[in-house]
Amino acid sequence: MTNTKNNKTLIYILNGSPRKNWNTAKMCESFKKGAQDTGINAKIINLYDLNYKGCYSCFACKVKNGKSCGKCAYPDELKEILEKVSNSEGLVFASPVYFGELTAQMRAFMERLLFPVYVYDKAGSKIPPKKLETAIIYTMNVKPDRFNDWFVGKDKSGPLGLFEKWIEMTYEKPEILCAYDTLQFSDYGKYVADVWDVEEKENTTGKNSSKSLSPHTMPAQKWLRKLKQN
Ligand SMILES: Cc1cc2nc3c(=O)[nH]c(=O)nc-3n(C[C@H](O)[C@H](O)[C@H](O)COP(=O)(O)O)c2cc1C
Repeated sequence: MTNTKNNKTLIYILNGSPRKNWNTAKMCESFKKGAQDTGINAKIINLYDLNYKGCYSCFACKVKNGKSCGKCAYPDELKEILEKVSNSEGLVFASPVYFGELTAQMRAFMERLLFPVYVYDKAGSKIPPKKLETAIIYTMNVKPDRFNDWFVGKDKSGPLGLFEKWIEMTYEKPEILCAYDTLQFSDYGKYVADVWDVEEKENTTGKNSSKSLSPHTMPAQKWLRKLKQN
């Protein structure tokens, strides 16, 4: 559990939002603060800062006895990051909901992280270097009903439900943190956006929202304590 110089447990928080000061970023910062308060070293990686694409289907990760078997070999900016995060203690995937799914940047990251460790054997083996603790942060315009019914879906059959299943099949079961009904603009008056009840957005952001979320009230506290004890 000691892969930093000062012997601290290390986790990576992956910000899959293009915006570095908005809802998802704030959730990432809160998570980081909560981690640090628990004595965990947490680093945020802004995926939009990196130049990469999704899986190239080169299959270097599947070559029998190949030097990259089980690893992503594609030589771009993600290669080193994948190596680093896979050998940490925990991963937090943070994404705004775009069209009911992850952002394209987070989706591309997921393909590069997971495909190499999925073995095409009859057992459907998964061979990540470590069975990491995981959490997922979602931020979105909709409220919980729509999120659960459409995006996660019955028995996790929706797009985000499937993402959660892929994570759980590879690593530990993810802790899920959501900010619903988020504010998307600082001045709604400037945009065509009358579908939203802005007053409600401003006044009723739930206790898990990025607006009111503090590291001490986050449900992630239990997750962090468990990670610290491991
Ligand atoms: C391209 C795009 C698609 C979106 N699609 C959805 C959606 O399907 N459902 C939803 O609830 N919110 C949707 N949103 C709203 C964002 O998920 C929400 O505002 C989020 O909190 C933004 O995160 P950020 O502040 O970190 O950028 C969309 C926003 C954009 C820009």
